[in-house]
Amino acid sequence: MTVPHGGGTPEKLIVNLTPELRRDLKIRATEHGLNVTDATAHALSLWYERVDSPAVEVKGAKSWGTYLPAGGVSRFVAECERRGIAKTQGIAQAVTGWLMAQPSLTQRLISQPVQRILVAIQKGGVGKTFVASGLAQAFAELGLRVLLIDYDPQGHMTRRLGQKLIPMDSGASLLEHMLGKGRKHIRRSLAVLPQERFAGRLHLLPACHDAFLFDAVMSSMRTGREESLARALEPIEKDYDVIVLDGPPSLGLAMDIAMHYAQRREGELADRSGVLMPVWADTPSFEAYDLFNTQRQQLMSMTRVQVDELGFVVNTYDGRRGASVQKKKEEWEERANPGVIQIFGDLKEQRDATDRSTPLLEWAPDCELAQGLRSMARELAA
Ligand SMILES: Nc1ncnc2c1ncn2[C@@H]1O[C@H](COP(=O)(O)OP(=O)(O)OP(=O)(O)O)[C@@H](O)[C@H]1O
Ligand SMILES: [Mg+2]
Repeated sequence: MTVPHGGGTPEKLIVNLTPELRRDLKIRATEHGLNVTDATAHALSLWYERVDSPAVEVKGAKSWGTYLPAGGVSRFVAECERRGIAKTQGIAQAVTGWLMAQPSLTQRLISQPVQRILVAIQKGGVGKTFVASGLAQAFAELGLRVLLIDYDPQGHMTRRLGQKLIPMDSGASLLEHMLGKGRKHIRRSLAVLPQERFAGRLHLLPACHDAFLFDAVMSSMRTGREESLARALEPIEKDYDVIVLDGPPSLGLAMDIAMHYAQRREGELADRSGVLMPVWADTPSFEAYDLFNTQRQQLMSMTRVQVDELGFVVNTYDGRRGASVQKKKEEWEERANPGVIQIFGDLKEQRDATDRSTPLLEWAPDCELAQGLRSMARELAA
């Protein structure tokens, strides 16, 4: 397939696109050996040629950015005006038409490994646990079999889901399994979330305080450290469609090992497993991301693996906090690769759910945060 490349400086196009189209575009582009930017440019070139594109459902569309060849943005805007449709409808028609014109090559042929999503960044308190837990709940509601791993020694997630931490020296903790010292099958360490809405599909591997010693213990492990998490989870991976890890607020060995686990496996489609990064609309979050990304790049070059970035989640955003907060949010939104997957406001339902040790989707199933988590789950579900 040839993709048109214009000369000149590429221009940024910010439009709204539904989570489903974002996901399908990303997956299909990868299957055809294209990046999303080139696939979008191709989609638009096909759309300009078609005069009779049918209307497409755009409910739930949210901000999304891409680059077009020089002159591409004004051409797109003018064409939408000429056809008397909104830009959201125009891009949806273009992407839908492209997906229909480029059938899936591989999806049915390659059996994919369990999807692994590491929710992480070393900055504390930005919402890693909220995102990891909420996303896992939304996946389970969608019908997926989900394993949620409390990979943070603080054990916040375990407690907030109303579950108990694994006792120290019980031979049941994740760390003990990673060290080959598990005394029972790792399945025996799991808790099944009891809420009916999850239909027994949401399982938790609770935290244990021994993980506070994680880096010290792991640094004395002579070989196989990187693979230790994959080895520990291997016996239960086949029971799940997706595994979500709640990362710790640090950049040590524990993070390296978790990133290694979220690597793209052989034959796996791009941007399916990887890291999802909650941030705030503030300067320290940009600095934290730069550092996090440096560690990811170093890990990839040292161990020759690919760890994909699935996107940013801008959390606890409140535009009333002033122009600088709004500007920082826009700066995140302008990033195309990876882009912002979801923006969450600072809402009381999450704080209330935390206080009551109840899963958010059970406590306030119809709140804005719950809807946003479901939208994210639909976009990320492979
Ligand atoms: N969108 C939100 N609206 C309201 N409260 C939120 C939101 N996101 C997170 N919180 C609350 O903010 C606090 C910190 O969030 P959370 O524990 O998810 O952050 P974290 O990044 O996991 O923290 P840590 O670095 O300690 O692991 C929690 O009490 C949580 O319930
Ligand atoms: Mg946390």
